[in-house]
Amino acid sequence: VVGNNNKMVRVPFQPIDPTDKDDLVLPKGFSYDVIAAWGDDIGNGETFGFNCDLTVYFPINGSSSHGLLWVNHEYIGDGALFLYPENTPEAEKYRIEQYNLGGSVIEIRKVNGKWQLVKDTPYARRITANTMIDLTGPAKGAAAVQSVSEVKGTFANCSGGRTLWNTVLTCEENFQYDAKRWGRNETHYGWVVEVDPFHPKSKPKKHTALGRFSHENAAMTLSKDGHLVVYMGDDASDEHFYKYISDGKYVKENKHDNSRLLEKGTLYVADLSRGRWIPLDLEQSPALKEKFSDQGEVLVHSREAAKHLGATPLDRPEDVEVSPVDGSAYLALTNNTKHGNYYGQILRFIEEGDDAAATAFTFEVFAVGGPQSGFACPDNLHFDKEGHLWVFCDISSSKQNKEGAYESFKNNGAFFIPTYGKNKGMAYQFASGPVHSEMTGPWFTPDEETLFIAVQHPGEESVDRHHPTSRWPRGEKPQASVVAVRGFKG
Ligand code: FEO
Ligand code: CA
Ligand code: CA
Ligand code: CA
Repeated sequence: VVGNNNKMVRVPFQPIDPTDKDDLVLPKGFSYDVIAAWGDDIGNGETFGFNCDLTVYFPINGSSSHGLLWVNHEYIGDGALFLYPENTPEAEKYRIEQYNLGGSVIEIRKVNGKWQLVKDTPYARRITANTMIDLTGPAKGAAAVQSVSEVKGTFANCSGGRTLWNTVLTCEENFQYDAKRWGRNETHYGWVVEVDPFHPKSKPKKHTALGRFSHENAAMTLSKDGHLVVYMGDDASDEHFYKYISDGKYVKENKHDNSRLLEKGTLYVADLSRGRWIPLDLEQSPALKEKFSDQGEVLVHSREAAKHLGATPLDRPEDVEVSPVDGSAYLALTNNTKHGNYYGQILRFIEEGDDAAATAFTFEVFAVGGPQSGFACPDNLHFDKEGHLWVFCDISSSKQNKEGAYESFKNNGAFFIPTYGKNKGMAYQFASGPVHSEMTGPWFTPDEETLFIAVQHPGEESVDRHHPTSRWPRGEKPQASVVAVRGFKG
């Protein structure tokens, strides 16, 4: 137990009501700056990609007002309506789509109290669906990836995380559709990709030791004796919750060389009925030999390996984050309409001995979505320094503001949920997104005076490009954009 459980936790804003307004609505005293919108010039001849998701802020010289921002660009989907004219030749469509996915590195700075993009920078960079990327770990060169050691591009980049050595982990989620359309090998996608934002010429890496599935994000922490532990969700109905433990130990002075810890280790999958982590390793779980001939093949087919060993199916595991106050892991299960779970819940995992490297755990239901609690379909999670949760919801845009289960929630919202105190588990609405959008990528500056949000897919349900359902943020076409929210008192 942390904090004082008899006291109400102070809510740092005046909560807002659900709304269907086509704007990013914030509590009184808060405002936002649009830092970069889809299509904006970010410097070095590059433009900001489509449908931004994960944001990770990297301070420059420890600053909370000047740094680099990594931003994921997840998917196109219905956004194709705005991306190119209808009669665009197929090959040109693919070229435009491929450029607009992946991620961006941008330099940002607060000037006279407002955040803005710095275009004159050596750091501005695009990683796209055509950037060459090295494979590392057991599947590198394996038959299951057609024996290659590098692959073309990254896309379907949903959420991710920051490493302890200041690089980003960007996660490939729903890659299947585009891989098929563009005629690419599916086994080259569905990995966790590491990018170093401070070295614009560095080649990104796909770390196969962390498994291949619809990776939502990657939350890194350390075990009691210094092994690296990475928690990961597989966002699909009835898929699983994973963690990776490195063979070697983290040594701060080794800086970027710690990246090698992501090349050798054990991938585990959760069995919630027995409270056990099952190793997806041919030697530690010999039953895998009935199906797989080498470890590379096991990792390429992580889902099949997990099912073969009895992993627990879950209701779409999205973001997972580690509490900075007690080390427990919070996992958002967004929904599973197949099972009548419309609103989702957030689980909390407590490792045996409070050690992230434990092979046994217990879990509890931390919060349940629904009309009573006021939130539905939790997706992105982010902890503040006090260890309270900021929860960003993802009700499918096709179901927003329509009669039915989701009507009362209106546009997608973001919520503050205390994790201890008298109001533990209560949801207070902090933000409401533009029409048909989803707010993603929450990340605070170190001083917690700025919260970055990636507003994804505004206007997604449009059927006519001249009459979009949203004109956010500039009153023209809808543009997914990264914003900086100000108004927090440090
Ligand atoms: Fe791309 Fe699971 O959200
Ligand atoms: Ca997500
Ligand atoms: Ca997160
Ligand atoms: Ca989602």
